[in-house]
Parts: sequence; C-alpha cells; structure tokens
Amino acid sequence: MAEKRRPSPQTEIFEKGYDPQRSEGAAIPPVFRTSTFIFKTAAEGKRAFEIAYGLSPARPGESPALIYTRVNNPNAEILESRVTAWDGAESAALFSSGMGAIASTCLAYLKPGDTLVFSDPVYGGTEYLFRHVLPSFGVKTVSFPAGASPEAMEALVKGDPTVKVIYVESPANPTMLLSDIPACRAIADRHGSPSRRILVMVDNTFLGPLFHRPLPLGADIVLYSATKFFGGHSDAVAGLALASTALMGPIKVMRTILGSNSDPDTAWLIGRSLGTLQLRMEKQQEGALRVVQALAGHEKVRAVLYPGLPDMGARQVELWKRQCSGTGSLITFRLRQGGEAAAFRLLDAVRHMKLAVSLGGIETLIEHPSSMTHSDMTAAEKAQACITDDMIRLSVGLEDPEDLVDDLRQALAKV
Ligand SMILES: Cc1ncc(COP(=O)(O)O)c(C=O)c1O
Repeated sequence: MAEKRRPSPQTEIFEKGYDPQRSEGAAIPPVFRTSTFIFKTAAEGKRAFEIAYGLSPARPGESPALIYTRVNNPNAEILESRVTAWDGAESAALFSSGMGAIASTCLAYLKPGDTLVFSDPVYGGTEYLFRHVLPSFGVKTVSFPAGASPEAMEALVKGDPTVKVIYVESPANPTMLLSDIPACRAIADRHGSPSRRILVMVDNTFLGPLFHRPLPLGADIVLYSATKFFGGHSDAVAGLALASTALMGPIKVMRTILGSNSDPDTAWLIGRSLGTLQLRMEKQQEGALRVVQALAGHEKVRAVLYPGLPDMGARQVELWKRQCSGTGSLITFRLRQGGEAAAFRLLDAVRHMKLAVSLGGIETLIEHPSSMTHSDMTAAEKAQACITDDMIRLSVGLEDPEDLVDDLRQALAKV
C-alpha cells in the first residue's frame, strides 16, 4: 500500500483548527466578537479554568470550554492551530504585537538574577527591552555581535550559571547577519542542565516561516512580529510565539496575566492573510532579487546586505546555505558617501516606494534604521552593531520590480 503523504503546510493552513459544523456551516471562520463565553454548567466552567490556569492538563481529546477573550477566543485558536503548520511547532500563541510576544515570552522565562545573552543588533524595540526594561527587573543582559563564531558565543555562556536564555534575531534587523542556531543549541546543552535548561529563542520575522525554520535547527521558541509577513498588508499589528506544548504553557499564562493577547478582528485578519503567505513571500523574494541585482555594482552603493550574497562573507554564505531555503525580500544597502544627508535625499526622492517603517507588506517600504527603527541606540551601541548613517532598509512588496528599479535609479541619481 502506498504510504500516506502528509499534506504540505500550504494545505494544512486551510484545514486545521476549524470545524464549519460548529459555525452554521460557514466556509470561512466568522469573527467571534465577544468578550466572554457562556458555560453550559458550573462544572464545565470549573474544568475550563483548571485547564487554562495550568492546574490540571487537558486529557487527550478533551476540548475545554472557552472562558474569556483575554484567555482564549476561537479566532485566535484557529489561527494558532494553523500557524503551527509552517514551523512544525506543537503549539502557538497569538499576541497583540511582536513586542507583546517577545516581552511576554521573556517575562515567562526570566527572573531576577537570570542572564539573557543576545545577538546584536536586534529590532530597536527588542534592543530597548533588553538594554533597559529587563535590567530594571534585575535580569542581566549581555550581547554578542550577530554572526559571531560559536567560540565567541560560548565564551559568554561558559562558567556563568545564571544564563537562562540565548536570544537571536536571524537575520538581524537591519544588518541581515545570520546567527548559527545549531551552535546556540549545542552551547545551551553543554552549559545548561536538566534542571536548568538554557532556552534558545529565535526572532524569525525576516525570513520565516517560508525560508527559515529554527525549530528543527535546535531552537526552543520561535517569535514573530506577525505585523509583517503573516499580516502582510500593513493593516494589522500582531505577534506570535511557537514552541512545544510544554514550553508554551507558561507563555500563555503570562499572556493572560499581562493582557498581551490579540483581539478577534485582528486574529481573523491575520488568518485571512495566511492563505496567501506563501504566494506573497515567494513573489516578494523574486522582486527583491531583481532589486538586489540593480543595486549591486551601482556606483553610488557601497554595499548590499542580503542573505546568501557573497559580499556577506564566506561564513555568512555557509550559514545561509545550511539554515535557510530562501533569501527573502528585505534588503539593506549602504551609500558610498554622504552619510545621513545622502540617505535622506534618497528617501525624499523615491516615488513608488513608501517612506515608512515596518516591513513584509505588499507595498514596498523604505526607511533609515539609524534615525528611525534603531534611533533608541546610543552612537556607541550603533557603532558596535554596525548600524551606520549611510544605511537604508528596503522591504520589497508586490509592485512590478522594474518600476522599483527605475525608482531607485532615479532616486540614487539625486544623491
Ligand atoms: C525583527 C522584528 N522583531 C520584532 C518586531 C516588533 O514587532 P511589532 O512591531 O509587531 O511589535 C519588529 C518590528 O519591526 C521586527 O522588525
């Protein structure tokens, strides 16, 4: 008998987590715009709380009653069930934003006296959380340069029994440097213990879930700004965390207590976008490759930072081959001269591209990391993270790539 082939994620995302017969046969999940849910009996309510608050786990096949939208809601649960398909995760949690996901996950696993070791740079908001907020709660944070060798990463973890989390953003925003995730796993295992597992967390916003899957590479928890590719249309803000069911438990409790949950309308919108995620990411990547081709070798461009490009260096290319299955649609480039003034001239001259932060949407967005997304960092921190004033970040959308290339050429001519 022929072996049954497992459906691909692109098929599973249309099927998981939703039974039309429980919603009048509606082909598409309705929006469950309700704050609270009516229990059939008091015993059912009691059992739902036992499960939601981790007092007693759900039995196999048991489907607990819904309680309250800050705890759970059908739109969030349908989406959570579907997004696990791409990353191969057991469980997922939807949040009000990427920062909601990152902060809630960190607070679920870090306590005063613990240390978080992170790749530098990371998104500006995450950087602020790590450099200012977590230390104010007694959590020590230490950084290593994104793309550092396993030896350099290990030097920070070795001999420090307080290390609880190794956090990497790969590729890093905005320098596009990849971190070695299997090496992070090996370091975590060598220096952790069964009673004190060091967790590897990966922000997979830039290439995931299509072109980079950190869980099989050894990550414990994958994090996303779902505002970006998952939402994909610059019309919703959301975040995701994915991991094993056991690791997701404390994260979901923290979400309930902090109130960093998403709402039914946003969950529905992100769910609607899920069907075109693969199409969009592949098409946007195609456009980005054309733009990279036009930028590379342009007389006014000093460097193009893009995963897998030989200019990123042999080690980065090797990491990209080992860890990624695509290059994505985010491009960072540096101007040959003129620093911030030249970058601003270019940003003010583009016509098709939109001057805005954020990324991963269907419209091309262009921004200046040093004065915008990463402006919280001090000059010294930027220098250490290689974020320069001549740097521009581009998120390629779905416009005709030839129009984008023309746009960049005319804008570069004004620099
Ligand atoms: C890599 C990365 N992670 C996290 C975030 C934060 O996500 P959100 O804006 O949805 O809170 C961003 C936002 O730009 C990001 O680029």
